Amino acid sequence: MTGAALPDTATFSEDGVRLQKVLARAGVGSRRVCEQMIDQGRIEVNGQRVKVQGMRIDPATAVVKVDGMRVMITEDLVHLALNKPRGWQSTMQDEMNRPCVGDLVAERIAAGQRLFHVGRLDAETEGLLLLTNDGELAHRLMHPSYKVRKTYLANVEGMMSRATEREMRAGVELEDGPVEIDEITTVDMNEGSSLVKIVLHEGRKHIVRRLLEHVGHPVTELVRTQIGTVQLGEQRPGTMRVLNRQEVGNLYKEVGL
Ligand code: URA
Repeated sequence: MTGAALPDTATFSEDGVRLQKVLARAGVGSRRVCEQMIDQGRIEVNGQRVKVQGMRIDPATAVVKVDGMRVMITEDLVHLALNKPRGWQSTMQDEMNRPCVGDLVAERIAAGQRLFHVGRLDAETEGLLLLTNDGELAHRLMHPSYKVRKTYLANVEGMMSRATEREMRAGVELEDGPVEIDEITTVDMNEGSSLVKIVLHEGRKHIVRRLLEHVGHPVTELVRTQIGTVQLGEQRPGTMRVLNRQEVGNLYKEVGL
């Protein structure tokens, strides 16, 4: 099959790279395994199923999916998960020279990488912060219309009652508008305090703290544990890791990219 016979000549390029080689390089499997996947009709390039061997594509422009899941084939796309420590600013630079996320990626920035943080965490909040140089991905992950779920664990003052949980599930009206709560569960209770798991798909400033304060349970500690399907897990504060292929594929899928 020639590039000219296909609709997207910028992507199916005669001087491009063979599809099975691109797939193998992206870590999908050995070339042999990738060829089998092509035979099985599991590979899509720009929305088109490819079942012939030897197709050449332009890795800079092609959108490649395996079993419907996006695979990152351009080596210059970066997706990182950081456990932001308590007391650090979420910004890339801080005009008051306080510790900030930019300090943790200073070498990458110095090497010319332009990284966006996906939303912000308050200085006093610890937990999962995603960083990427894909601006559209960052935008969609933050925008409430894409409904990407962000999970938090909050230690709050007082004993959370079932009635308050129900009240919150029905939605809460704050001074800047209503908040839809995807999930709220009390995980643990101790004398005078409760540990609450709360899931939201928006990121207005101080939203979790304001919500819980509003229902009479001020937050004493807050950690973000998950964004979409990416989990903080056992990652220690101040450490960063590169997201794996599955995690990246899931993020793109969740926001329709
Ligand atoms: N909600 C908050 O109140 N703080 C955060 O850092 C994130 C969500």
